[in-house]
Amino acid sequence: MTATPIWTPNSWRDCPIRQVPAYPDQAKLESMEAKIGKYPPLVFAGEARRLKAQLANAADGKAFVLQGGDCAESFSDFTANTFRDTFRVLLQMAVVLTFGASLPVVKMGRMAGQFAKPRSSDNETQGDVTLPSYRGDIVNGPEFNAAARIPDPARMEFGYFQSASTLNLLRAFASGGYADLHEVHRWNLEFVERSPLAERYRDLATRIDETLNFMTACGMTSANTRDMRETDFYISHEALLLPYEQALTRIDSTTGDWYGCSAHFLWIGDRTRQLNGAHVEFLRGVKNPLGMKVGPTQEPDDLLKILDVLNPDNEAGRITLISRMGADKVGDKLAPLVRAVQREGRKVVWLCDPMHGNTISTVNKLKTRNFDAILSEVRGFFDVHGAEGSWAGGVHIEMTGQNVTECTGGAHRLSEADLGERYETFCDPRLNAEQSLELAFLVARELKERRAAPAPLAVAAQ
Ligand code: PEP
Ligand code: CO
Repeated sequence: MTATPIWTPNSWRDCPIRQVPAYPDQAKLESMEAKIGKYPPLVFAGEARRLKAQLANAADGKAFVLQGGDCAESFSDFTANTFRDTFRVLLQMAVVLTFGASLPVVKMGRMAGQFAKPRSSDNETQGDVTLPSYRGDIVNGPEFNAAARIPDPARMEFGYFQSASTLNLLRAFASGGYADLHEVHRWNLEFVERSPLAERYRDLATRIDETLNFMTACGMTSANTRDMRETDFYISHEALLLPYEQALTRIDSTTGDWYGCSAHFLWIGDRTRQLNGAHVEFLRGVKNPLGMKVGPTQEPDDLLKILDVLNPDNEAGRITLISRMGADKVGDKLAPLVRAVQREGRKVVWLCDPMHGNTISTVNKLKTRNFDAILSEVRGFFDVHGAEGSWAGGVHIEMTGQNVTECTGGAHRLSEADLGERYETFCDPRLNAEQSLELAFLVARELKERRAAPAPLAVAAQ
């Protein structure tokens, strides 16, 4: 057996790497890395461990996970209202899902650092002009001009401070009274009454209402019960821009372990999950809970090898696999991966990202996703896990609390012709507030029904 090579925060630099911005000024990059390297960590290692413990429950079928937020956060959309509204919708969804799953819901935002974007092409062409692709606000600017598209290390510092400010507000919302369960439920009732599909959602909302009234009658109120007025909320992003991630890597003084301190949860994207690649190398050395996207090209054997590297001790909560196959492929492509993980007894959390495999282009060349395809992938994901005897641990979605028009379908039947109205994303199309809540109601109903259905074994035995 060959010994595992020594990991250092720097060791990724010796590995093949994809999706790297071409910084023209290396000295400027290095001085920015050194500068951020001295800044305070954004998260505390103890928080990351707490999240890992909660994710361990999800690996064990005792919790459900909701991860959501923008595809790409932006420097120009940096207002309290944006974060507040996304946070609020995530909480609203979480309440509905908690009821549907009858389990705690672990809440993670694609927020406070989701700035770096992998691209399928290094260049973008408009008319007869070709420029480097936009790689997220922490790298370069979205405007289509040569100056904006030059990668600039100074953007890392701006990203750091914007993340700090966003996280500060999220922490205040989570513990300062905004997350009160009764308020969140009241927002849900308002949503249901406004929805054209109110009849479909009312039953679930009424049952939650009765449950809350029952709890109050039993003496559990916001005043005397912390969990009724506060919540745990974690931040996460794709750990793509390794110079930035390395600069925020710190040794935890209580354990002596390394942690990536730019977010509680860091994930590897579908384009950068090569076994011997730089991203896998970097993340194997930090003790945070990690995610990895698995798309249709992921082979089961390779997946097991990556799990050996990222989670050699098979620790529950360490790895979350985020499946993003596409509605038409999930049945065929996910099953072999789940089977391999089950067969080898690997402890993972499985999340369904029903967004990235369902992106299509409209005739006007806008990227969109259809609500029915998204829902269909979630159902397919549940079906695979049901058939394989594995726990479908949660969902990962691109969404916003704003009333944008980026995905088609939903109760308001947004069509391709409506997309121009408020198409505001800096990268992929997001579910708007109402579509996100609809998804939560439909998934919750599905969870309830599946829990109520007799187990396949019991049926066979009759
Ligand atoms: C993303 O989550 O924004 C993303 C780029 O996903 P993937 O790596 O699955 O394509
Ligand atoms: Co995206």
